[in-house]
Amino acid sequence: MRVTTVLKEIELLKKLSNAFGPSGNEEDVAEILKTELEEYADETRVDKLGNIFFYHNGKEGYPKVMLSAHMDEVGFIVTFIEENGFLRFETLGGITNNIMLGQRVLLKGEKGYLKGIIGTKPPHIMTLEEQNKVIPKEDLFIDIGADNFNQAQEKGAEVGTIGVFDVEFTDIGDGYFRGKAFDDRAGCTVLAEAFKSMKDSPYNIVAVGSVQEELGLRGARTAAWQVDPDYGLALEGTFVADVPNTRPDRVSSKIKGGPVITILDKTVFTHPVILKTLIKVGREEAIPFQFKKVPMGRTDAGAIHLTKAGVPSGTVAVPCRYIHGPASIMHIDDLRNAIKLVTEFVKAISVK
Ligand code: CO
Repeated sequence: MRVTTVLKEIELLKKLSNAFGPSGNEEDVAEILKTELEEYADETRVDKLGNIFFYHNGKEGYPKVMLSAHMDEVGFIVTFIEENGFLRFETLGGITNNIMLGQRVLLKGEKGYLKGIIGTKPPHIMTLEEQNKVIPKEDLFIDIGADNFNQAQEKGAEVGTIGVFDVEFTDIGDGYFRGKAFDDRAGCTVLAEAFKSMKDSPYNIVAVGSVQEELGLRGARTAAWQVDPDYGLALEGTFVADVPNTRPDRVSSKIKGGPVITILDKTVFTHPVILKTLIKVGREEAIPFQFKKVPMGRTDAGAIHLTKAGVPSGTVAVPCRYIHGPASIMHIDDLRNAIKLVTEFVKAISVK
């Protein structure tokens, strides 16, 4: 039985990770969530910005709990096409200059997908100083194999064409998985599995796949306004720093340390009711968890908790190494424990 469950979760994560969904273009991810969750929901709808909502209408008197996972991933947008066919670009969301060079990218052109690579001039013609420095974004370009401006356009590349890292989801053994966009498709997986597991519960739950988180928590802002929840929980894939050359106090979280509970980040100071409930259920149900120890980053909770008169909110995340890069690494145990923690949280906070 256990194997089947693991596979089911991973099958969904794989579909979500491989899906194309840079900020503002989350339809494919929403479609996967819809296929997965529609039959479990009393109502499913998509709003004008593209946020998708799954309602589980429980019994009267229980608070309304909003679970939110963002569907978008960091990506690229074409800003200029050179005469010789190379594409200049800007990033959608935070991608640092030092991890872009040489990466494979997938662009969604007017006539279908385009495969490319992020290039720069070869090291052989660089000065020693140039070879040893991080190449700024301004000196990078996307090469889609076009001879010139016209051919790039004929292939379907335009100013405004969007793209993502081109990385296939891979099982790398021993419960570890490698893939792109675990931020936040890991959170989307937790959202889906937690929602499904509470199908017959008396609680009032709204699961939201939000848009444009990576551009500033934009979808969650309008989604929370519509849901008007009593409590909010953002589900994330968060950064991990259990890697060489990291000072102990900078190890924000660890792989296999359990779901990461935010106390403080750049946009939210977790409400004590939320924090205490998460800690309580984690301890009582013997679900391993860890606190985010470096108060950086931002999540949908930052937008949700400032909705209308305010919504007690927090964040639970799957620890993932190398987020906002081409590929992340995560472990199945953390995913499964995050699903458990979120499910138990909803039960515990749902008091009449
Ligand atoms: Co995220």
